[in-house]
Amino acid sequence: MRYDVNKPIGVLDSGVGGLTVARELMRQLPHEQIIYVGDTLRCPYGPRPEEEIRQFTWEMIDYLVGQDVKLIVIACNTATAVVLKEARQRLTIPVIGVIDPGARAAVKVTRSKRIGVIGTKMTVESNSYEKALRHVEGQVVVESLACPPFVPLVESSQTTGAYVERVVANTLRPLLSYDMDTLILGCTHYPLLADVIGRVIGPDVQLISSGDETALEVAALLDYNGIAAGNDFIPEHVYHATGDTRSFERIATDWLNQPIQAKRLVLGTEGTT
Ligand code: DGL
Repeated sequence: MRYDVNKPIGVLDSGVGGLTVARELMRQLPHEQIIYVGDTLRCPYGPRPEEEIRQFTWEMIDYLVGQDVKLIVIACNTATAVVLKEARQRLTIPVIGVIDPGARAAVKVTRSKRIGVIGTKMTVESNSYEKALRHVEGQVVVESLACPPFVPLVESSQTTGAYVERVVANTLRPLLSYDMDTLILGCTHYPLLADVIGRVIGPDVQLISSGDETALEVAALLDYNGIAAGNDFIPEHVYHATGDTRSFERIATDWLNQPIQAKRLVLGTEGTT
C-alpha cells in the first residue's frame, strides 16, 4: 500500500501552550494537517511528579498514534524533558520536542552568551535547557528560573492587565539582576505572556520561543523522510481538550486568529470511572 503523505501531525501539550507551536507549524507548513491534544483537565504538569507527567504524556501519545499520525511534536517543554528520549526509542514515527529547537534558537541570537531560561519547576529542575545549550555552545552561561504562577494565568485567559503585570514582575524579580541578552521562554505557555514578560525584562533582552525553530525542524524531517503533505492538500485541523472545551476554544480562537471548535477527549482513568 502506498504511504499517505497527507496523514496528520500530532501536537500535544498539557494545555493551550502547544498552540504557540501549532501556530508556527500552520504558518510554515500550511498543507500539514494537525491533530492537537491539550490535557487541560490535568494542567499544569510542571509541579507534578515525574512519573505522573510520564503517564499523562504517554496517554496523549498513545491517543495520537491511534489516530495514525505520521509525526508527533511534543509541544510541551515539561513533557519533552521527561518523555522525549523514551518516545523516540519506542515509536517508529519521528518525535520532536521543543527544548533542542529552543536552545538552538537562543544560541543563534545571543552575543554575550549569557542566557536566561524560564520554565516550569520540572523543566528547570531537569536542567534540560542547560544541557541542550551547552551541547550547541560550550561557552554559554545560563541562569534558570521556575515560574509556577504563569501557566495557571494563561490557562484562565489572563494575559493582560494590572494583576498579570504584577504577578509577572514579582515572579521574574530574581532574574532582573542577571546580566543576559537572551531569555528563553522555556514553556510553550509563556509566549502568550510575551508582551508582559518583555516589558518587565526590558528591551535589551531578546525573548526566544521554540515554535519557530521547532517548525523548521519538522519541515526538515518531513522533507528528509519524504512524507510532506501534497501542495494541493487543504488540511482541516482537529483540536481536542480534556477539560472545558469552551475555555480552550476561546484561547485558541484568539491565539490562532480564526474560529476554533474543540472536541472533548477523555484520557486515562477518567475514562474508566
Ligand atoms: N506548556 C508546558 C511546557 O512547555 C507546561 C505547562 C504545565 O503544564 O506546567 O512546559
